[in-house]
Amino acid sequence: MVTPRRRSRPASRAAASGRSGGSGWREEILEVKRPPGDVPRTYTRLAPVYEVWARLTESKARRRVLELADPGPAEDILEVASGTGAQLVELARRNRDGHTVGAELSKGMLARTRRRLRSEALAGVEIFEADARELPFEDESFDLLVNSYMLDLLPREEIPRALAEFRRLLRPPGRLVMSNMTIGERPAHRTWDALYARGVVLTANCRGVLAAPVLAELGFTEIRREYLAQLGFPTEIVTATKETR
Ligand SMILES: C[S@@+](CC[C@H](N)C(=O)[O-])C[C@H]1O[C@@H](n2cnc3c(N)ncnc32)[C@H](O)[C@@H]1O
Repeated sequence: MVTPRRRSRPASRAAASGRSGGSGWREEILEVKRPPGDVPRTYTRLAPVYEVWARLTESKARRRVLELADPGPAEDILEVASGTGAQLVELARRNRDGHTVGAELSKGMLARTRRRLRSEALAGVEIFEADARELPFEDESFDLLVNSYMLDLLPREEIPRALAEFRRLLRPPGRLVMSNMTIGERPAHRTWDALYARGVVLTANCRGVLAAPVLAELGFTEIRREYLAQLGFPTEIVTATKETR
């Protein structure tokens, strides 16, 4: 059991280094337009329709995340920002004899997940209301950490903080598998960020990010990155390992 605490291919050299090198990723990505404090309320409002959006723009990425994560059958797995619980249930189904934990900030999303978990009647699954930037679990509690479409909602300076928290929770050789909205690699895929830069926020405040250079800064190894787009919505799938000390 996890104790809650009280309180593909290698990333291209460009992506791993932030294209412009070192901490260049900060200049490459846009800053968020709305205060992060609005996020839980926004996602509570969107919870009833989120799966429609996910089917249109994120279903390919979800399949690939599950393939790369290759979860279970007896692991300690954490999904951070588990949303409606759709991916959490898939992780738990594959981790029959293990322990699968979801952490999520929005009350509306948490309510959806709880309903889903009741109807699935899966054993060994728990869901917590928790913030990715300060997760209520002991160090090195998990073999696998999955996180989808959350990093792209965080202000630039909070991205390393969340990823450092993920690193803290992984038990070597722990695997991290993420999907994030990223910077479009074709002109048509850059429309979302172009609109966002002009203040047209169609994406519930997410914009393209680059996780690989931050993971490299934090000492993760075996960093690999894939790119895909669905309905012109650009996603990076990034995997990394926390090595044995
Ligand atoms: C775009 S949705 C993705 C949901 C889910 N991961 C999926 O792929 O279906 C982003 C989710 O991240 C959650 N979130 C945003 N910031 C968070 C934070 N700091 N800690 C935990 N969850 C957060 C939101 O409440 C929302 O449910």
